[in-house]
Amino acid sequence: MKEQEVDKFYGRRKGRPLRKHKTECLKDLDLYSIHLPLNLQMVFPGIQEVWLEIGFGGGEHLAALAEKNPEVGFIGAEAFINGVASFLQYRSEMNLTNVRLFANDVRLLLQQLPENSITKIFILFPDPWPKKKHHKRRIVNPKVAQELCRVLKKGGEIRLASDVPEYIEHMKHIFQLVPEFKLCFSSHEKPNDWPSTRYEMKAIEAQHYPHYLIYLKN
Ligand SMILES: C[S@@+](CC[C@H](N)C(=O)[O-])C[C@H]1O[C@@H](n2cnc3c(N)ncnc32)[C@H](O)[C@@H]1O
Repeated sequence: MKEQEVDKFYGRRKGRPLRKHKTECLKDLDLYSIHLPLNLQMVFPGIQEVWLEIGFGGGEHLAALAEKNPEVGFIGAEAFINGVASFLQYRSEMNLTNVRLFANDVRLLLQQLPENSITKIFILFPDPWPKKKHHKRRIVNPKVAQELCRVLKKGGEIRLASDVPEYIEHMKHIFQLVPEFKLCFSSHEKPNDWPSTRYEMKAIEAQHYPHYLIYLKN
């Protein structure tokens, strides 16, 4: 499939200069990346389920899930190269062999994923873009929700979290626009099988209490 244009990406692609070890880890990026055009069978031969984390940040949630679920193939999408380097460090320390990375705007990946190909999708503490004039930059938007619905398997789930109450309302509004999505969990308490993320821990420290959502695709 030909790459189509996506709207401009507004987040950061680079941060502080990386320490030596992380720079070393980045040398492995090509080896553990998925490349477009995508062939999921070749990326994960023999694997039954593929889970996708969008904007994995430092990668702690992705690494914990991949370690707990060695029979699942994981795709981690993250546009911020420092986050990618951080995950690659976990990958090497934890010897994770079931994760492939997409170090770019996830919208380029979504348009290449086949219909009904992904069993679980995670979007945790996405950038809230709090100013009204910036809401259109949010990753949870009508176009992306349609794409998520297309790539998700029937019966598959999407897990979302935020510590910004207005963004939780925004997510609920956007997911309501897609009739296949059914909200089946909405709480300040998360299920036990849900590892923490760096932003989640920062939010809790600042006494901003996160809210967790799970949608199922009918
Ligand atoms: C606020 S951080 C949260 C990181 C992590 N999920 C956590 O909870 O710690 C949001 C992350 O999403 C990434 N991101 C935002 N838009 C993206 C996009 N279109 N494609 C890939 N990554 C994206 C950003 O680079 C950033 O690392």
